[in-house]
Amino acid sequence: MVNYKVADEKLAEKGKEALYIAESKMPVIGDIIRKRFSVEKPLKGITIAGCLHITKETGILARALKAGGAEVYLCGSNPLSTQDDVAAAMVQEGINVFAWHGNTDEEFYWCIRECLKANPNILIDDGADMIVTAHKEFPELIENGTIIGCQEETTTGVKRFKAMDKNGALKVPLFPVNDARCKNQFDNELGTGQGIISAIYGMHVLFAGKTVIIAGYGHCSSGMALKARGLGANVIVTEIDPIKALQAKFAGYQVMPIEKAIPNADIILTATGCKHVIQPTKEMFELFKDGVILGNLGHFDIEIPTKELYEYAKEIKPVRTNVEELTFPNGKRVYLLAKGRLANLVLSEGHPSEVMDMSFALQSLMSEYIVINKESFKPGMINVPSDIDDQVGILKLKAMGVKIDKLTEEQYNYIHGYEEGT
Ligand SMILES: NC(=O)c1ccc[n+]([C@@H]2O[C@H](COP(=O)([O-])OP(=O)(O)OC[C@H]3O[C@@H](n4cnc5c(N)ncnc54)[C@H](O)[C@@H]3O)[C@@H](O)[C@H]2O)c1
Repeated sequence: MVNYKVADEKLAEKGKEALYIAESKMPVIGDIIRKRFSVEKPLKGITIAGCLHITKETGILARALKAGGAEVYLCGSNPLSTQDDVAAAMVQEGINVFAWHGNTDEEFYWCIRECLKANPNILIDDGADMIVTAHKEFPELIENGTIIGCQEETTTGVKRFKAMDKNGALKVPLFPVNDARCKNQFDNELGTGQGIISAIYGMHVLFAGKTVIIAGYGHCSSGMALKARGLGANVIVTEIDPIKALQAKFAGYQVMPIEKAIPNADIILTATGCKHVIQPTKEMFELFKDGVILGNLGHFDIEIPTKELYEYAKEIKPVRTNVEELTFPNGKRVYLLAKGRLANLVLSEGHPSEVMDMSFALQSLMSEYIVINKESFKPGMINVPSDIDDQVGILKLKAMGVKIDKLTEEQYNYIHGYEEGT
């Protein structure tokens, strides 16, 4: 029996079309790994619960895990990122799904609880909400050994778990899949980088000639800055880390405090994982140019002070799907994308399938790794083994038909030795 609550089961046909497109662009997980999993069944008897963006790419991950023998439960990791057609299609494929677009905070946690009630053995999280809920409300799953390992997909989630670990509060083996090379160097940089075009989806705006603030110069935001510049924008980077700020400066961007940059900005896009990147004050809001577009691509809706902007606005008018016009008391208008939530997932479809191929190949191979090695783990953060990271890289290159050089024995000995010098 499939357990589920989705928006509309009748959307399944449309969702299947989306899955078809995604699978054709995800050869590593959608073909190579899934075929092996179908034969070897490494996840037989295992229940996996994923709190992930319910997109067509997550559908391909769910297919691979199910092919490997797992019972799969899914709920959304953001109230606005669920693609309802994909959720409906997954139910038809025997995946237990509790997710619909636009759920309330209460419904969001209800969906997480429904997944945890299935007694999952492996949790795959995106933002830490499911694993934190397991600690708070389902401690027996941890204490009685039902949960054998957990995986985290995004930077913000990894930061939360590092803080828990430091306080001795992390009671499960936690693999920060986000930190693997095959994840953050492609998914964050290329995927979120390309996500700036959500601002185009939102307002049909031209980047060329615009002044665009990119807040942050990390994995996601450096990709965003590059893409914005490629579209012809005049990019200003804001940072708090001196080295990242230097990197941005040497890459040719203007770097300055956000307060100084705001008066000239036509578009402001954040992806820092930090709170109140734009300070929630009237003085700061009054610096905005009339017509500025505000969008966030970081995990939570706290980078742009959404709540305070709503309170300050004298009028809030939806102007397009997931875009609101906020009119301030001084008459200036601000266009807020996606209520300050992940604009690339809300206004568009999230990351392109090609990059999620690697992220989800890692998640599926890590699920297998957890099952095989479960006896050897202790609670706390455990890095993704580099050979699994490399394996995903090798498979992706193979799928793309790209060959690379191999070290000769002489070269291997040279780079691992110290005898040879001048
Ligand atoms: N939209 C998506 O699809 C998507 C995908 C991956 C990650 N994310 C999220 O994006 C956020 C960033 O992830 P990342 O991997 O780039 O992290 P990162 O740590 O690589 O980069 C964040 C950067 O922001 C800078 N920063 C922090 N506070 C700042 C502030 N107040 N002002 C300016 N800069 C500041 C940091 O110094 C750092 O350089 C996280 O919340 C992550 O979960 C979103």
